[in-house]
Amino acid sequence: MRVLTVGGGGREHAAVEAFHRAGSELYCVMKNANPGILARAKGHLLCDEKDVAKVVEFAKANDIELAFIGPEAPLGEGIVDALEAAGIRCASPTKAAARIETSKSFMRELVERHGIDGNLSYASFDNAEDAEAYLKGIDHEIVVKPVGLTGGKGVKVQGEHLHGFDETMEYVREIFDGNIGGAGVILEERAVGEEFTQMVFSDGERVVPMPLVQDHKRAYEGDVGPNTGGMGSYTDADHLLPFIGEDDRMKAIAIVQSIVDALAEEGCPYRGVMYGQFMLTINGPKIIEINARFGDPEAMNVLTVLDSNFEDICWRMATGTLDAGAEFSPKATVCKYVVPKGYGVKSEAGHEISVDEEAIRGCGAVAYYANVDMRDGKLVTGTSRSIGVVGIGDSIEEAEANCERALAHVRCDAVFVRHDIGTRELVQRRVDHMKALRSA
Ligand code: AMP
Ligand code: GLY
Repeated sequence: MRVLTVGGGGREHAAVEAFHRAGSELYCVMKNANPGILARAKGHLLCDEKDVAKVVEFAKANDIELAFIGPEAPLGEGIVDALEAAGIRCASPTKAAARIETSKSFMRELVERHGIDGNLSYASFDNAEDAEAYLKGIDHEIVVKPVGLTGGKGVKVQGEHLHGFDETMEYVREIFDGNIGGAGVILEERAVGEEFTQMVFSDGERVVPMPLVQDHKRAYEGDVGPNTGGMGSYTDADHLLPFIGEDDRMKAIAIVQSIVDALAEEGCPYRGVMYGQFMLTINGPKIIEINARFGDPEAMNVLTVLDSNFEDICWRMATGTLDAGAEFSPKATVCKYVVPKGYGVKSEAGHEISVDEEAIRGCGAVAYYANVDMRDGKLVTGTSRSIGVVGIGDSIEEAEANCERALAHVRCDAVFVRHDIGTRELVQRRVDHMKALRSA
């Protein structure tokens, strides 16, 4: 099938590899010349991924039959609506359905309207004065979020990034003054527990779950520092996580299914990958955010072990015929992102980076190219995450060791990695944290 992919990051490279394994003929749009994607593409276009008219023109010129959109920004611009209007099937949501991610207040209100489990108390504001009055009236810790899209970087948590009323208000004002996210501020109750990601494939009606993943949002080892798009992530061989059992997982899947049902009921059926980010609390899973796409890095974990035909799954999502499950190998994966120095605060870009793909494969791992660019025959880093390295193994420990050995084959003098991701110590700390919360 002639497949269009949009996006040039690690998530999209992983999707392109999955399409390639399925025998798809690939046409790829991205802003950076991602060498991993280019190696698999029959045709490509380097342009702003939000330039809907250009992407549609490219798709029509190449007789595309199926489109897959990686990042959220083009979804927010209505790229799926435009492709569908041109007669092209899409394994990604329309602009209206993607509001589940593009507006954090739409998500919270939808969940509230339909009485879906897992909501947190919240209030959204279009000015700092009302937010201030609300803050004065509550006695629990909160999280401050811009309502609109910020690439996962605009969220600050009281008790971690914000201490006390004054600091919190200062950040609220900063969001309004800088118009960060472009749509106001949402203040949410702070949920305490362990985070996990449950992604599903959906055809607008049914959901097919993927293995659970745990991402690491904080920039530095020990889970400190600013929030990032995600520094790395792991999955376990049984597709659960060491701190979460089947019961809580079923609750998370039920929440995602209810959201799919609610969107269908409201006239904007959701087709594509839906990403549920949850906090496992002592009162069960609570919704942190819902995204209208694969997570990045999480896509690299699950697509690496996807045994089913990805093109077939995407076609079924696009055409409302997702009547079978998806198979994933019983393997654990650990993904660590190599990111440019300063990432999370102010990245230092433009440094040469080299990746020995064959040596990495020899270590029981795979490398995915992300925000890197080919310039004058050289591979250089951009301002976002550079290379995702995914170790595979029978256990998290083995996958982690393979990932670490493979990382030695990515060379650059201006990058860093969170080496603690997937280590026995960090995973055990998560298990102990949940145990302590339950017994308190
Ligand atoms: P988000 O971009 O919404 O995923 O938020 C980034 C990170 O902030 C999450 O991964 C959590 O670690 C944290 N966070 C967001 N919302 C909440 C919440 N309501 N309670 C606790 N932590 C949160
Ligand atoms: N890894 C988090 C996200 O993709 O939003």
